Amino acid sequence: MPHAIRIHQTGGPEVMHWEETDIPTPGKDEVLIRHTAIGVNYIDVYHRNGLYPVPERPFTPGLEAAGVVEEAGEGAEDYTPGMRVCYCKGPLGAYGEYRVIHRENIIPIPDAISDMHAAAAMLKGQTAHFLLRRLYIAQEGTTILVRAAAGGVGLFLCQWAKFMGARVIGTVGSEEKAAFAAENGCDFPIVYTKENVEERMLEITDGEKCHVVYDSVGKATFDESLNCLMPFGTMVSFGQSSGPVPPVDPLVLMQKGSLFLTRPSLLHYKRTREEYLYGAAELFDLIMKGKMKVHVGQSYYLSDVADAHRDLEAGNTRGSTILLPPSS
Ligand SMILES: NC(=O)c1ccc[n+]([C@@H]2O[C@H](COP(=O)([O-])OP(=O)(O)OC[C@H]3O[C@@H](n4cnc5c(N)ncnc54)[C@H](OP(=O)(O)O)[C@@H]3O)[C@@H](O)[C@H]2O)c1
Repeated sequence: MPHAIRIHQTGGPEVMHWEETDIPTPGKDEVLIRHTAIGVNYIDVYHRNGLYPVPERPFTPGLEAAGVVEEAGEGAEDYTPGMRVCYCKGPLGAYGEYRVIHRENIIPIPDAISDMHAAAAMLKGQTAHFLLRRLYIAQEGTTILVRAAAGGVGLFLCQWAKFMGARVIGTVGSEEKAAFAAENGCDFPIVYTKENVEERMLEITDGEKCHVVYDSVGKATFDESLNCLMPFGTMVSFGQSSGPVPPVDPLVLMQKGSLFLTRPSLLHYKRTREEYLYGAAELFDLIMKGKMKVHVGQSYYLSDVADAHRDLEAGNTRGSTILLPPSS
């Protein structure tokens, strides 16, 4: 019998149970996939702990995976058995050995890219894509600050921004992460546990500050991130690894320099098939040309996903985290 992770009640990592499931049958426009590698993302933690409510119970979490087509439903016959595909915009259900998914949500994996790398890159790389190529177009002369610069999304952001010519400042929790970020496009890693971020950022920018801050840490860093922006700078609050950001008084944005504040979601920026394919095409192209490295920092058996979540929440991971189903 195949297995999947199921959550009956939200809570800590222990609420994720390894349970037997049936192999689903693909309906119209759907494809049955056998997963070979599953991506872990911080949003999975928010679904697990209830910060992002999931109406259905029990549910299988996970938005990102790579695998092999086993069977196609009516209208999806161009996805033939054996084709390698990946996806990153759900719906929930990636933490299982098999799943069915709508054909619009999957993308073929190029021969030169492994399943593991596709699952490690799709969600985080597509996030970096919309943040840098759609939300705020980074270019030569742009100074950006990336929070959690050695993290999953952080490494893609640093590499991509550097490729686009930006000056990249990053904050990280340790010297080891600083060295890793520096190897991956971060010009100025700041170890926030040892250095004062604002002071160091002012030194690096000669007092000019940054055009844009990409802040995925949230509660712990939000105010400091606003202070790192030059007048008319853009604050991109796109996550909350340290907890949700408290309500913001718009007047603060005026006081700190007529700032712009946005709280974007991948699902909105990638809502059309066209945008989804565009991001994947640019991402795969950079990976295949060697301009973007995919770092699988750690992998776990799917049945050990609780350990993966514990490590992610403790800040003990770097780069992407992958879950491996038993058959992979
Ligand atoms: N809006 C969107 O569409 C979108 C899409 C994808 C991801 N995201 C967000 O982006 C963020 C990064 O996701 P990811 O999967 O790549 O995770 P990640 O950045 O690899 O992991 C979180 C990192 O955040 C840092 N951190 C700082 N304070 C923390 C705290 N109190 N607790 C836990 N971590 C803390 C740690 O790095 P240091 O040790 O260096 O501090 C940790 O390694 C998440 O907040 C996620 O929700 C948003």
